[in-house]
Amino acid sequence: MNKFFLNLGNQPLANNYLKSYKQNQIRYNLRLFFNTSNKMVSISKRIPSEKMFTNNYPYRSSMSKTMRNSFYKLSLEIKNKFNFDKILEIGSNDGALITNFKKNEVIGVEPCDNLAKITSNKGYLTYNKYWNYELAKKLKKKHGKIDLIYSANTLTHISNLKNVFKSINYLLSDKGVLIIEDPSLLECIKKNSYDQFYNEHIYLFSAISVKNLLSNFDLEIFDLKNLPTHGGSLRFYIKRKANKDLKISNRLNKQIQNEIKFGLDKFTTYKQFSINVIKSKIKLLKILNQIVKTKKTIIGYGATAKAVTILNYCDINNDLIPFFTDTTPDKINNYMPGKKIKIIKYKKNILRKFDYAFLGAWNFKKEIISKEKEFIKKGGKFITHVPKPKIF
Ligand code: TMP
Repeated sequence: MNKFFLNLGNQPLANNYLKSYKQNQIRYNLRLFFNTSNKMVSISKRIPSEKMFTNNYPYRSSMSKTMRNSFYKLSLEIKNKFNFDKILEIGSNDGALITNFKKNEVIGVEPCDNLAKITSNKGYLTYNKYWNYELAKKLKKKHGKIDLIYSANTLTHISNLKNVFKSINYLLSDKGVLIIEDPSLLECIKKNSYDQFYNEHIYLFSAISVKNLLSNFDLEIFDLKNLPTHGGSLRFYIKRKANKDLKISNRLNKQIQNEIKFGLDKFTTYKQFSINVIKSKIKLLKILNQIVKTKKTIIGYGATAKAVTILNYCDINNDLIPFFTDTTPDKINNYMPGKKIKIIKYKKNILRKFDYAFLGAWNFKKEIISKEKEFIKKGGKFITHVPKPKIF
């Protein structure tokens, strides 16, 4: 049974950065649910994929050094640890992972035309398609079974998870390995980072819920890693149940024990989370209002999809944060979805004109702090809402 625990209000589509704030845009009610039987946390509203993953999708995985490094490290690990003839990436974005491999070793699947073009123009075979059973059938006919399937921050964006895993199950070779990574529910609840929820993040995975999900297929988790990316992610290593060559690591049980200890299997945990989120909103608004009252200025740093949830849930407008700055070309000069807050191009020293920077990209805090030493030296301060709203 799906039980409701939090309403994050009326929200626009998170990656829908518009040229004019007056443009009409889809809105939906962002409500969160916990499934008491399979322990999956999800949002209730399902926006059709074609409306979210358009031909000018702005998010680019290669935009941050942190993500480029993370993908590079993983490519080394794959090369060292696993035998593969071909690697398939579901949701290859702008090629942050696949471009670390030889062109004949990788196949990308990417539904957003503008992103698929980036990798196909570089000579990487990229299917400009949504991941589903029809595509899996087509790929099997053309390339045979695949030894290594990888997907980061994509599977949780697809409503029909049964179809997702049925298609993977169909295509993965007998000794094949599936590696998936997505934000960790445990980290989200611990950090009170409710901005992990928006229309694209339909599910937030835990080891408990992924284990339950895979029990419907000939697949099981054999290893797991906690990663610092995206504010705390889980990387699952998955194999066929019959493949006994790969041993099940005790990291899986450890993670499940931690999740149980934290109460991820209990509805009361999510009720408490919803109370913490309301408190976080009140505190953040208090901090922003106090700053503006003293005639100091705030800029948003990192026009993330996550920040869209915060701005719209807390109803933060341009009287509090007049601008956001970002490095992503397709976001620059557009408006934060749902708000009259313009995104301006990131330039060195852009922060000089502001007293405070609100960390929309709090998940890149380390990278940003080291980049903005000058701002800090001159007395500039950051604001974050994670794990609690504060100035630092
Ligand atoms: P994400 O949190 O969804 O990965 O998005 C991060 C956004 O933050 C992306 O639009 C790029 C932007 N960004 C900057 O503008 N400057 C930076 O230094 C970093 C690390 C990210």
